[in-house]
Amino acid sequence: MATKSREAEGQAGVRRGGEPVVLVLHGPNLNLLGTREPAIYGKTTLRDINQRLIGLGRELGLKVETFQANGEGAIVDRIQEARGKIDVLIINPAAYTHTSIAIRDAIGALEAPVIEVHLSNVYKREPFRHHSTIADVAEGRIMGFGAESYVLALRAAVALVARQPAVAT
Ligand code: DQA
Repeated sequence: MATKSREAEGQAGVRRGGEPVVLVLHGPNLNLLGTREPAIYGKTTLRDINQRLIGLGRELGLKVETFQANGEGAIVDRIQEARGKIDVLIINPAAYTHTSIAIRDAIGALEAPVIEVHLSNVYKREPFRHHSTIADVAEGRIMGFGAESYVLALRAAVALVARQPAVAT
């Protein structure tokens, strides 16, 4: 299996062949999607978003793994765990986007390319949401399309995977 061989190789984030793996990581309060400020974030639940991404991933030939945590440390731990095992990280760090150097540093230790996602267009909102600690370490950023932002990110992940050198296992 692709994951195992990546582990065996032990090189962070370099694709080792097999089905590409995309980790979709959701930050704090995104577990409440559907009921949390629906005028801003929409009515789609996190479960629906994840299921849609997993299904679309199958169509696109990607293995999609999902993870949500409210704590900064748990997010850092999950990014560390992903080293050498994933091809692309799609991350919505939610409020930590604006504050977390720890998440930025964890991304810095990951070789896999990163796509930053937001449901809302943060630039149409309060000034404190305009700064992102990960913007300059992400390949690209997608925001403002509600749950569709994730779908667009997954499609962008296909292009990123195609760009990476595949190493035979
Ligand atoms: C968010 C935007 C952040 O400012 C906010 O703290 C979130 C969600 C978004 O997806 O629009 O929790 O990342």
